[in-house]
Amino acid sequence: MQLKHYLQFTDLSREEYEYVFERARWMKQAFKQYRQYWPLVDRTLAMIFDKNSTRTRLSFEAGMNQLGGTSIYLSTRDTQLGRGEPVEDSARVISRMVDLIMIRTYEHDILQRFAQHSRVPVINGLTDDYHPCQIMGDIFTYIEQRGDIAGKTVAWIGDVNNMCNSWLQAAEVFDFKVHVSAPPGYNVDPGQIGLVGTANFEAFCSPHEAVKNVDLVTTDVWISMGFEAEAEQRKVDFADFCVDAEMMALADRNAVFMHCLPAHRGEEVAADVIDGPQSVVWEEAENRLHTQKALMEYLLLGKIQDT
Ligand code: CP
Ligand code: NVA
Repeated sequence: MQLKHYLQFTDLSREEYEYVFERARWMKQAFKQYRQYWPLVDRTLAMIFDKNSTRTRLSFEAGMNQLGGTSIYLSTRDTQLGRGEPVEDSARVISRMVDLIMIRTYEHDILQRFAQHSRVPVINGLTDDYHPCQIMGDIFTYIEQRGDIAGKTVAWIGDVNNMCNSWLQAAEVFDFKVHVSAPPGYNVDPGQIGLVGTANFEAFCSPHEAVKNVDLVTTDVWISMGFEAEAEQRKVDFADFCVDAEMMALADRNAVFMHCLPAHRGEEVAADVIDGPQSVVWEEAENRLHTQKALMEYLLLGKIQDT
């Protein structure tokens, strides 16, 4: 089987996502019914974390166990990666001992260099630039809740970060629109994230304009991991970008609210929105498990059934 990495959202085609989502739906049902499905017996996943995590670690680790395989947690705090061993050497060694590798790190370049020297598939568990596994789970969740996402409009409110970049890539793959509203100085750079054009994205100065009639409203923390030094300035810059009930009321009445979590109530989102009836954040978090299980199966075994 040809070696396939998952480093950014555009690494899979729409047809491949449709296959992975079909498998995820099947695996979710099997999981809920306590049906054992062990296609990855004897396979090992190494998870390398250079940043904190709750959901990503848990969903990959539990997911690998549920598929019959094993996972090993490695942190840069206590491995030689944290003491300057070159990424390339680490990739060569780790990929001789395991079948699949997931990495959460800072610069996207580190992940790319690791993948270039790996003999096994590498998955992006979040970099400064992208968080494709989260967006895969988010799109699966939207489809589950409301049906096809093609032709719909998503409003992204707040920081133009790794999540926003992956949403913008996803819009090109699934053909929906993203309205981005961020403060001055926090701009989308379409070239930097490899967008084909600007047809799927529109920038808005006013978050209230951006959410008008949209089908999905989403946001994320103002201070992503690695940006802590800018915290005070960012709290000032983003003060008008809290998704509150007044903002949600401008979206389509059937719109859902999403957040990758962890959330800061009272900053990027008001408590009555994230804890309100339009919020699907808990389903969204759970779907990380099912979609990543399907992704791991796909990267290791390829297509195992016709869809
Ligand atoms: N959404 C997400 O990736 O959460 P963690 O940082 O807890 O993994
Ligand atoms: N944008 C956030 C996402 C956390 C899951 C961060 O990078 O910290």
